[in-house]
Amino acid sequence: MKILGTGSAVPKQTVTNDMLSDFVDTNDVWITTRTGIKSRQIITTERFEELAALAGQRAIEAAGLVPEDIDFIICHNVCNVYVTPSLAALVQGILGIKGPNCPTMDLNSACAGFTYGLEICDSFIATGRAKHILFICAEEVTRMVDWTQRETCVLFGDGAGAMVLGAGDNYLASKLTSTPMPDVIYYRLPCEPTPFETGEGIDTHIAMQLKGREVFRMAVTSAQRDIRDVIEKAGLKLEDIDHFLLHQANQRIIDAIKQDFDLPPERFHSNIQKRGNTSSASIPMLLDEEIREGRIKRGDLMVFNGFGAGFVTSAAVMRY
Ligand code: UT7
Repeated sequence: MKILGTGSAVPKQTVTNDMLSDFVDTNDVWITTRTGIKSRQIITTERFEELAALAGQRAIEAAGLVPEDIDFIICHNVCNVYVTPSLAALVQGILGIKGPNCPTMDLNSACAGFTYGLEICDSFIATGRAKHILFICAEEVTRMVDWTQRETCVLFGDGAGAMVLGAGDNYLASKLTSTPMPDVIYYRLPCEPTPFETGEGIDTHIAMQLKGREVFRMAVTSAQRDIRDVIEKAGLKLEDIDHFLLHQANQRIIDAIKQDFDLPPERFHSNIQKRGNTSSASIPMLLDEEIREGRIKRGDLMVFNGFGAGFVTSAAVMRY
């Protein structure tokens, strides 16, 4: 599998830390020193599925293709207003890709979803069942948090990162893990009531909850382990890797991981300062920005690493 082109899209509304402190008990110093975040983009008037489709359109153009060339659309998304149809089916309609020869489906592996999705794409590409997959990670996490809870609402942003994947030998190794720990990060929505429900409070709505310190520790430990494992699996050495693109959850998490590896610091990329945590979209958005700004070039070796609710982790080595 090979990346043929990338794209990304963010909402037009940028929200600074100072803007948040107007309505929640927080401040720029706390957010900056604890997370590295200075601002984020938040969905206002945009339609979420159009934002996802825009990132996809940009990836198709970067690949030198047209929408009709796409023969599979896979979206990764944790939550949006449509439980069904899938985001991928909505994107297909917006991009004007007529059926029935372009199947669509969504995946959900929380903030680690980018590499989980790559693994699925690779299985379709490697077996020749798809030629050009449009893979989009799109998230509107700011609609999952309680905007009166300062512990969570300051952390997130919205956005979409996309790529077109085709045949090639550039996907070198991967590692996916999952450990059942449903209470460390979760978000619950109520389903429709039925006359047969038993018990009370089964379907209560609970805005996103996270045990920040626990996640922080697990993220650093799992990343140090998964990155080493996946590089070894690829038959490479740490110093062979040109770029590390880690889930953008907290600059302090990225710095702690970076410290563990004796490598030039500029190999660890970051855009959390201006984007916040965009869940599964964070790595493909960062990748697209770094490619477009010329910092990642064809032939470079990259490591992707993510973690999230589950508790799930993922890592991959890929050549651009
Ligand atoms: O992508 C996956 C989801 N992401 C995560 O799960 C994030 C992982 N965790 C983290 O990034 C960090 O743990 C946080 C940024 C969430 C929190 O940083 P921390 O250094 O672990 O802070 P803390 O939770 O221990 O809170 C320290 C203090 C508390 O006050 P007291 O008890 O010491 O008086 C909090 O109430 O900071 C307070 N606090 C805030 N103060 C101002 C918490 N949030 C805020 C805030 N503004 N927004």
